Amino acid sequence: MFKTMAVLGLQFGDEGKGKIIDYLSSRFDIVARYQGGANAGHTVVVSGKTYKFHLIPSGILNRKICVLGNGMVIDPVELLKEMDMVGEYSPLKRILISERAHVVLPFHKEMDRIEEEIKSSGKVGTTGKGIGPAYQDKYARIGIRFADLLDKNILEKKIEMNLKFKEKFLNEKYDVKKITDEYWRIGKKLKRNIVDTSIFLRKSIENGKSVLFEGAQGTHLDVDFGMYPYVTSSNTTVGGVITGLGIPPKYVGKVMGVMKAYTTKVGEGPFPTEIKDNIAKYILEKGNEYGTTTGRPRRIGWLDLNLVKYSVNLSGVNYIAISKIDILSGLDKVKVAYAYRIGNKKIKNIPSRVEDIQKLEPIYREFDGWEFTEKDVKKDIPRNMMKYIRFIEKFTGAKVRILSLGPARENTKLLGPI
Ligand code: GDP
Ligand code: IMO
Ligand code: MG
Repeated sequence: MFKTMAVLGLQFGDEGKGKIIDYLSSRFDIVARYQGGANAGHTVVVSGKTYKFHLIPSGILNRKICVLGNGMVIDPVELLKEMDMVGEYSPLKRILISERAHVVLPFHKEMDRIEEEIKSSGKVGTTGKGIGPAYQDKYARIGIRFADLLDKNILEKKIEMNLKFKEKFLNEKYDVKKITDEYWRIGKKLKRNIVDTSIFLRKSIENGKSVLFEGAQGTHLDVDFGMYPYVTSSNTTVGGVITGLGIPPKYVGKVMGVMKAYTTKVGEGPFPTEIKDNIAKYILEKGNEYGTTTGRPRRIGWLDLNLVKYSVNLSGVNYIAISKIDILSGLDKVKVAYAYRIGNKKIKNIPSRVEDIQKLEPIYREFDGWEFTEKDVKKDIPRNMMKYIRFIEKFTGAKVRILSLGPARENTKLLGPI
């Protein structure tokens, strides 16, 4: 058996993946990210210090080899800043960047802003990190990749050609030579880190190394299976691991899905179990539900198990990690949606059109509340909380193996073998 595991989000992102990946990565040799870019914000709290990762896999704090895969779109300026942030962990020695990963350039961010402006009230509410435009370039076959940063002539030609397309939309005129020079210099700095990560990973796995695959965003932001068009521009589901790292499916191993004990979402789009009452305010403040990347307050809702089950089935999730269950502690009643209805009709799956998702009325089951917070991490789980967990397992068919009771690494409870 190959010692690999994928960790991915089961909701709308911000499920607590960063914390869980940090917790798990002590058991692995390599942590590899396969999609997305600096739209991600993964918060990890270790020894009282808070780290916010946008690009570097959370395994860096355990001094693991960290791979940024070909499926990513990487802003090299942000990457260098982040490498500075974790300077004490020798990132230059540990980070490998795929030569096939796409480069996010300043004009991608500008395009992101303009596209949102054109969409106006139909905007997605992106993070503004240039993700959509960078993936558009990839699929339009005009993208700039990390290998291009290593040759000034090639880089200049490609930027020049790319900007011929952009200048039709952009007000600003970009200086090709200046951008080429700036990014070529970054390429020179990272020269030894830019490699064929697909070969590296394949060989490592074949030589018995263990690899954790780090997902960003969440299943319902997946470009194919999320609530299109209110999605990100990559495959956040398990298929992304294979294409985003260049490894065969047989090397994927187990899949750990991360879910919050309730639901949150940043950005626009449907959210069937959204609540705007006093409980929402309570969860927003107690859970500090403000975006890691943009600082926007997150929208709050009850746990939607329809969404979670869909994600479990889509990615073949074996194990679930539940985060932020401490935030629900002290509530009288806790609600969970287990079906939807439109009028008198019961709906079990997620419709593909957002216009139809908007019409869904969740059907809830109510659970009695419990008291259990990070200080109780070594204690037995109270009965009411156990009922909540068992319901999640029964409904989704996956085993809940990790409970997270606080932001720090040590506030984590393992419920069974993984
Ligand atoms: P990610 O994008 O999935 O990695 O999640 P984020 O880091 O964006 O958001 C999760 C937030 O919840 C961060 O601020 C974490 O520090 C925090 N967090 C993670 N797990 C827990 C938990 O079990 N309890 C509490 N109270 N906070 C948590
Ligand atoms: P992590 O990895 C939550 C959302 C944005 C927007 C939509 C598209 O921290 O879970 P984009 O900038 O990707 O074009 O925005 O996706 N979004 C996220 N929401 N967590 C994330 O990442 C997100 N990355 C993107 O808010 O609705
Ligand atoms: Mg996040």
